[in-house]
Amino acid sequence: MEKLLVFISLIYQANALVRPDGVGRLPALGWSSWNAYECDINASVILSAAEQVVELGLKDLSYEYINIDDCWSVKTHRDPTTNRMIPDPERFPGGIAGVASQIHDLGLKVGIYSSAGETTCAGYPASLGYEDIDAETFAEWGIDYLKYDDCGVPSTWADPYTSCIPDTANNAGPFPNGTCPNLANPAPKGYNWDSSPSATRFRRMRDALEAQNQDRVILYSLCNWGNAAVNTWAADVGNSWRVSGDISPGRGEVGAERVRIATWERIAEIANEMSFLVRDYAGFWGWPDADMLEVGNGEGDMTVAENRAHFALWAGMRSPLLIGTRLETIKEEHLAILKNPTLLTFHQDPHTNRPAYPYKWGHNADYTFDAAHPAEYWSGPSAALDGTLVLMLNSENVTSTRTAVWGEVPELRDAQRGHEEGYAFEVVDGWTGEEFGCVEGGLEVELEAHDMAVLVVGGAC
Ligand code: GAL
Repeated sequence: MEKLLVFISLIYQANALVRPDGVGRLPALGWSSWNAYECDINASVILSAAEQVVELGLKDLSYEYINIDDCWSVKTHRDPTTNRMIPDPERFPGGIAGVASQIHDLGLKVGIYSSAGETTCAGYPASLGYEDIDAETFAEWGIDYLKYDDCGVPSTWADPYTSCIPDTANNAGPFPNGTCPNLANPAPKGYNWDSSPSATRFRRMRDALEAQNQDRVILYSLCNWGNAAVNTWAADVGNSWRVSGDISPGRGEVGAERVRIATWERIAEIANEMSFLVRDYAGFWGWPDADMLEVGNGEGDMTVAENRAHFALWAGMRSPLLIGTRLETIKEEHLAILKNPTLLTFHQDPHTNRPAYPYKWGHNADYTFDAAHPAEYWSGPSAALDGTLVLMLNSENVTSTRTAVWGEVPELRDAQRGHEEGYAFEVVDGWTGEEFGCVEGGLEVELEAHDMAVLVVGGAC
């Protein structure tokens, strides 16, 4: 059995997109402009975010990418002579290269955005047919990260079939039994998504970026919202790939103001989808992406407990962690969540090639696809924490208790071999650092609605 596992993991690594300098080996940590600002960006917004990442101590915790999302270029055309995209001269008077060099001076890295189509989602020029020119331009500007979206795809590049993605509205996932009840135009059995037009478009940009490796290694992050069976072919195309639609529909009017909408309902939906994917598809060099963080957003719609659970789930799943809020005005309680040392250590563990995943669903029978009640009990080993991370979610709308039973946690069952007289482990609260000491059997925790317990379970005692 062990030999088989080693063999499987070798196959997996062979498919991975291994990049120079370890770029993309671990899930990205950083900040992105979209959730906080959407199209309302310019050089000072981006630079001020970078400065805040340093000042607030986030850089010291390894947050490193400062990503410029959609809307950074001239909207109407490319440069007629060079065919290059043109940074908007009003928003970015020093060009993107100017901002990049200031961000590099702060010891951080810089990301940019384009799409595998003719236009971006906000209607700006995009890279289909211009992959080589754009990759070369980004490298020359000093770009370290490319988010590559899926808007503006011409009909000549449309996929012939629709792939199965979770149907949250009807609570009908394609998981775990392979069915996909509401799918129009499904692919015939055995259809190879790896050679689909979608995979081809995204692979073209991978090749263009790889051609820049000598000069500049650019992390490649795919964003096709889980379409075209992306999980099955993305590992050797990009270092991360979005598995679902946007984490928020954008902004809504509250009084006279347009405010960011962020809801626990959507966080739970995505966590539910991810819970069926991360076991099979997450590992070094390739990470399913649950979307950019909403911690700090939602203007009072999300409780602190919900912000906590959102971050614990994303870090536990080892999704890229891209802060999506305005750091100048972030509240202390939200900042503390983003700076949680236990979760960041787990997320950035250089020795452990897997995320946490569910060992029990809790509220539902195991493997139930339920957008409102994702799996509640998750665990993952961590060499960096020298123990096992155990996460427990209260997915219900009222305060309730959850109990971690050591004998149910696979990693602890393994650790227990040789100590047959009973399960007892040293336990630390991953939120507060409080030591519970040697705990026998398991631990019951009281949790507010939609809160998540974080336990670091160490050596047997
Ligand atoms: C969406 C993408 C968002 C954001 C937006 C920009 O397709 O999922 O994360 O990048 O485009 O227009």
